[in-house]
Amino acid sequence: MKILKNKRILVCGKGGSGKSSVVSLLGKSLLKNGYRVILLDADASNPGGLFRLLSDKKDVPEPLIEFFGGREKVTCPSDDPSPMTRINSNLPINETVIDLSEIPEKYSFKKKDLTLFQIGKIKEACEGCDGPMSKVARDFIVKGDFVTLIDVEAGIEHFGRGVEKNVDVVLVIVDPTFESFVIAEIVAKMTSYLGSNNVWAILNKVDSKEIELIMQNSLKKREVNYLGSINFDKEIHKAGLEGKMIAQCKAEKKIEGIIKKLENLLEIEMEYK
Ligand SMILES: Nc1ncnc2c1ncn2[C@@H]1O[C@H](COP(=O)(O)OP(=O)(O)O)[C@@H](O)[C@H]1O
Ligand SMILES: [Mg+2]
Repeated sequence: MKILKNKRILVCGKGGSGKSSVVSLLGKSLLKNGYRVILLDADASNPGGLFRLLSDKKDVPEPLIEFFGGREKVTCPSDDPSPMTRINSNLPINETVIDLSEIPEKYSFKKKDLTLFQIGKIKEACEGCDGPMSKVARDFIVKGDFVTLIDVEAGIEHFGRGVEKNVDVVLVIVDPTFESFVIAEIVAKMTSYLGSNNVWAILNKVDSKEIELIMQNSLKKREVNYLGSINFDKEIHKAGLEGKMIAQCKAEKKIEGIIKKLENLLEIEMEYK
């Protein structure tokens, strides 16, 4: 049984902790494991984003927010929490769930059964609040057996905008910095405040057993659940430096293990429900 089917997984954490790198590796690994995958790049301020990590092509997909009428139509969820609507309709999106086939190809990048959407990027100064993009991240729920990974902006602003409302699992990426742990603790508290215990930390850029132990202890002290660790990986580092796709790398094995563990944890949870 593919337990992550129909799950929406939010990936958050400190800026530079490795959210986008981990999302792209998770996406590829889920695909390899037979899942149909949707990746949502919801980080408006990172120009390259997930696309760069997954493709060496130049034709970046058009912003998904445009399909829903752009910032003129989609409102900021902090001011207006009501559900998003389609461009020529006022019917709340949750009343007729999105079918992938209704979205023209120009809005996505496809790799077999993996589909990547870029919600939108901030290109000009004084462009205004990127809240509307958070609403697309919150409400872009697709019909069918997909697992959706949402790569949000750094920090915790997405909580203020309610992106977690339609999410089943929250993964917080923690690199070896103090701020990363502070953010992980806030994320864990806010997620349980919203009534979910499905929040786990993934340690990233771990370069020794000693550092891993320190990081695991720090999570324990802060009462943040641990899911797994990803080593500091030369290939990921190089991709980040050169602005290229992540090549085959050692971290893939760790990612495999993380997916298995997440599947097991969710399966146990379902048995007790
Ligand atoms: N496990 C890792 N090993 C080595 N470098 C990493 C690893 N994870 C991320 N990086 C590097 O850290 C930087 C930030 O990663 P990125 O995925 O863009 O973070 P975020 O999306 O959280 O801002 C990039 O240069 C990336 O290549
Ligand atoms: Mg990123």
